Amino acid sequence: MSATPIIHLKEIRFRWPGQSADFLYIPELIVNKGEHLFIQGPSGSGKTTLLNLLTGINVPRSGSVMILDTPLEKLTNIGRDRFRADHLGVIFQQFNLLPYLSLVENVQLPCGFSRRKRANAGDMDATALRLLTHLSIPDALLDQPVSKLSVGQQQRTAVARALIGNPEIVIADEPTSALDSDNRDRFLELLFQEAEEQESTLIFVSHDRQIAERFTQMVDLTMINQAEVAE
Ligand SMILES: Nc1ncnc2c1ncn2[C@@H]1O[C@H](COP(=O)(O)OP(=O)(O)O)[C@@H](O)[C@H]1O
Ligand SMILES: [Mg+2]
Repeated sequence: MSATPIIHLKEIRFRWPGQSADFLYIPELIVNKGEHLFIQGPSGSGKTTLLNLLTGINVPRSGSVMILDTPLEKLTNIGRDRFRADHLGVIFQQFNLLPYLSLVENVQLPCGFSRRKRANAGDMDATALRLLTHLSIPDALLDQPVSKLSVGQQQRTAVARALIGNPEIVIADEPTSALDSDNRDRFLELLFQEAEEQESTLIFVSHDRQIAERFTQMVDLTMINQAEVAE
């Protein structure tokens, strides 16, 4: 049985505006359905830049970013925004929760930008509550503003928000960097459990190598990035 690529980067060249050299040159990166990819690399190596290429926030100078059979470089900016809203769930490095909204409202936000997620989520209140409860958020916090949460609780709320509406791909940008190792392990356990339950592929970025062993595939960005580094 041949595997189906869910992500296929080919001959990606990306440079920042005003620069005369490429910052990233990735000849090829393939992630098949059912895999979970760990991307390792030191601070400043371009991990967030690469994730932003996968989500269509950054657009390469040349090359193809194929996500779920859609070449992102062929879409308009609006098309990329819509594609991201419909098919991807993102856990940001700083979580980006909206402080004046409750937990439930934060979790439901992506459904406001995507008809597909709305349809998949069904009863949005019930779905948001189910996700938050699965992720061990105490009932008493559910209608509280997120400013009342601990860092760990904010993280789990960000996971619920990334998972709502069953996106095919869930992308996480160093979400464990503020956690001690016990909390980090518990967080990863929950993230994997929920992602597998809804058959989402995880793409997880970190400088912390200890996390890598849980994943089915690992790349070191400094190895796959073939751009000439200006010394
Ligand atoms: N908007 C931007 N314009 C120019 N350079 C940028 C911009 N954003 C990030 N960079 C540079 O790109 C490099 C990689 O950044 P980043 O992808 O955030 O690395 P990482 O996530 O691995 O820490 C850094 O040197 C950073 O200064
Ligand atoms: Mg980063």
